[in-house]
Amino acid sequence: MSSIQALRENITKNAALIEQWLAKKNAKAVSFEQDAEEEFPSTAGEAEIEAARLAVIEDTQKLHDLILGPGEVLRRICWGSIDNSVQQCIYHFKLLQAIPLDGGAAYKDISAKVGLSEPQVKAIVRQSATNRILREKNPEHVVHTASSALLLRNRVMMDWYGHCVEEMFPAGAKLAEALEKYQGTSAAENSAFGLAFNTKDPIYKFLEQHPDRQARFFGAMEGVGKDYGHSLEHIVNGYPWRELKEATVVDVGGSSGFMSVALAKAHPNLAKLVVQDYKHTVEQGATQLPPELSNRVSFMPHNFFEPQPVANADVYIMRHICHNWSIENCAKIIQQIVPALKPDSKILLVEVVVMPSNHEESIIAERYMRNVDVTMLQMLNTQERSESEWREVVRAADSHLELTRFFKPKGSWDSIIEISLKKVAR
Ligand SMILES: C[S@@+](CC[C@H](N)C(=O)[O-])C[C@H]1O[C@@H](n2cnc3c(N)ncnc32)[C@H](O)[C@@H]1O
Repeated sequence: MSSIQALRENITKNAALIEQWLAKKNAKAVSFEQDAEEEFPSTAGEAEIEAARLAVIEDTQKLHDLILGPGEVLRRICWGSIDNSVQQCIYHFKLLQAIPLDGGAAYKDISAKVGLSEPQVKAIVRQSATNRILREKNPEHVVHTASSALLLRNRVMMDWYGHCVEEMFPAGAKLAEALEKYQGTSAAENSAFGLAFNTKDPIYKFLEQHPDRQARFFGAMEGVGKDYGHSLEHIVNGYPWRELKEATVVDVGGSSGFMSVALAKAHPNLAKLVVQDYKHTVEQGATQLPPELSNRVSFMPHNFFEPQPVANADVYIMRHICHNWSIENCAKIIQQIVPALKPDSKILLVEVVVMPSNHEESIIAERYMRNVDVTMLQMLNTQERSESEWREVVRAADSHLELTRFFKPKGSWDSIIEISLKKVAR
């Protein structure tokens, strides 16, 4: 059987399964129009459908690349920088905001609003339309599509988009230069981001001095959580929280506190949740706290390279913190918590555990894992870690600690890594 035939048959079979499932659910028709749902309907608890969906994504991409041919595959990858520069212009010049959701806008009106010439706006919009972000209704008039409307309607998606085009994209262009210049060093400030923004500060310190960028970054981090693989439900349901009695949880580097809010809403036994981060960050988080949680969730400025001020908490959780730092710095961060631990306290790290290329992983999870690995390299001069590297982090931190359990909630891109104090033999 030719590879085209095998792929075609698989795609037909799996697409039919998905189509029937959508019909049975009475789901809204999937489309590229601006009234489409923000995400594909959740397949949580539907293992067969999720497997079919992932197979279609993988097989259609293979078929697409086979039919393009190797040369065109390469040309498309290299032209990808144009995709990013066009999206950067759309964000920078607020093109999406210049086009009403209701009816769209003529090029001449967009041009007058954003201050670019009509030919420039046309070049940008028409290139973007090849990615189905905006489309021409006729040669003089532009309307929104599902993706462009999503950006307009969803603040945290817009923040994520802004962070990608205004911070990650410029940093990416400096990665080779940074790797050349900083060979053999692991300091966070020796990064492509530092070269792109002409700063010696690691990104988080830099953001603390740029409140607008920082506010957008918080939104972006919340936006990342909107991917199903990143959904907070994996943390809320992926650890035996209910076994803890009247527990105190410290959310170290917890940004605006959205994970603590999700945990507090789902688990009434978590009596006290303390969100720690930089001063501006927690101040902003406190303003967004739902009032009904104000007696359980609190905010505290804290530098995690200094001793942990909350002693005897049941859980110290750090989500997407340690992957930002070298092994030596991770060890320092964990060491600050050790004196605060009681014998049965846990430290939880919510992080990607990198697998080798031949590991069975869905194509979406695989791409995510490889992308964040390189993102860490360009933004913070560090990398995602394998299971043995996470064990090394714990060993480097304190010989009294041990890595006790790994949880990998189904559909989650992250694992929950549980660290405990070793039991002392009596
Ligand atoms: C990748 S974000 C993760 C945020 C959040 N835990 C989440 O799950 O999205 C890293 C967080 O660490 C915070 N951070 C960085 N350096 C810090 C430090 N020295 N002390 C406290 N927080 C810090 C940043 O402000 C940011 O909120």
